[in-house]
Amino acid sequence: MKLTIIGTGYVGLVAAVCFAKLGHYVTAVDREHIIQDLRENKLAIWEPTLQEMLETCRSDGRLFFETDVAHASKGADALMIAVGTPAGVSGRTDLSQVDHVIAQLKQAEDVCPPFIIMKSTVPVGTCDELEADLHAAGLRTEVVFNPEFLRQGSAINDFMNPDRIVFGCRSHLAKAALHQLYRGINAPIQVCDRRSAELIKYASNAFLAMKISFANMIADVCEDYGADNRQVMQGVGADRRIGPHFLQAGIGYGGSCFSKDLQSLLASGNAIGRSLPLLEATAQINEERIPQLLEKLISIWGNPRGKRLGVLGISFKPHTNDIRDAPFLTLLRLCYLYGIEVQTYDPVVQPATIEGVCQMDTAYEAAAGAHAIIIMTEWPQFAELDWVLMAQLMYQPILLDGRNVLSEEVISRLMAVENVIYIPVGRPMEQTTLTLKRDTSTLRHIYGT
Ligand code: UDX
Repeated sequence: MKLTIIGTGYVGLVAAVCFAKLGHYVTAVDREHIIQDLRENKLAIWEPTLQEMLETCRSDGRLFFETDVAHASKGADALMIAVGTPAGVSGRTDLSQVDHVIAQLKQAEDVCPPFIIMKSTVPVGTCDELEADLHAAGLRTEVVFNPEFLRQGSAINDFMNPDRIVFGCRSHLAKAALHQLYRGINAPIQVCDRRSAELIKYASNAFLAMKISFANMIADVCEDYGADNRQVMQGVGADRRIGPHFLQAGIGYGGSCFSKDLQSLLASGNAIGRSLPLLEATAQINEERIPQLLEKLISIWGNPRGKRLGVLGISFKPHTNDIRDAPFLTLLRLCYLYGIEVQTYDPVVQPATIEGVCQMDTAYEAAAGAHAIIIMTEWPQFAELDWVLMAQLMYQPILLDGRNVLSEEVISRLMAVENVIYIPVGRPMEQTTLTLKRDTSTLRHIYGT
């Protein structure tokens, strides 16, 4: 098939390389400077295997880049919209980028393909409205909703091996076109009406966010009563009706989807006078995570002003450099308010990405001289650090493990170091009982101070 994809963000670009890999001819469209970089195989996003796939698909002559929507749409079997649909006023979805694409199609003569496949997450009823708008302009195209469930950091694998594929469409022709597009992917396909498909996407993200907030709520109860949240969730998740995924307690969820989609669904409810209390509680629990964790440090420090906090991990999850809605940004705002200095290390987020943040080249440098360390992202290499050395490098060895990444073995080794306080999530904190004489020779050796 000849497919045109508008938008080369996470969803658009991953879809473009994956559909090209499946044997289709794909033209991806975006703004001039973005396309310029893509034509030179330069990626703005860091996603495992995406770079290699992009290069292969281009050299195989299956993937092309364009800047003009009308030109790229001419002769296409389908046009896919994968532009951003960010949060707008009062949580409502900002559809201006979608509207802009539709306006370009209406303006150009004779280019609108028979099917417009909406990949961007849009509020319920949007596809019906867009199709009515196109028909009113004399364009006989069918708008189809085909949600995307990929996770950053495992986007290619999620695209190629999805749990399910959803087609929200009206006609047999549209259904047949979508089947042809996804030929080669082995997954259950659900065909339904467009409104249900639009709601499947929101409800899925809302449910996943709710699972995380539930785990975080129970983690607090575990801390109150001295239970271990990891054991509790293992027991809970072993029930097949519940499932073991998305029950990991920690600093709360971030990223470009969960908060935005939850707010959008709440706004849709509000618009018709329907309250959605489960979603409100989910968002509230999540918003309280970072202030609550910081409070733990402050209760040990006393006065936070002038304290130095080492932060490991900036992005909202491992294996990505995306910092949109990252819990780190909330932490940073609060640190600024309290007068806490922040020094960070992240394996892939480029230094100087965030203004005013002192980004270090190694985790050890982020620990040096700090009054506490907080682990914000569960990069596997953080678990492998020499944590005894990390503690020795710190001014005050307090470790707040926001993702529970340190193993029991590492923790027991740490407990042999003087004055260490280890604060996990969802189980009691551990504290060194020994108070040995502080040996700063390692620090002096590394930094020559
Ligand atoms: C999510 C959805 O999973 C995906 O289906 C949708 O298409 C886009 O939004 P993504 O934002 O890439 O994907 O990340 P995801 O892996 O879902 O994690 C979201 C956030 O939840 C991260 O901050 C992660 O650290 C957090 N999380 C996840 C937890 O705190 N605990 C968990 O158990 C799982």
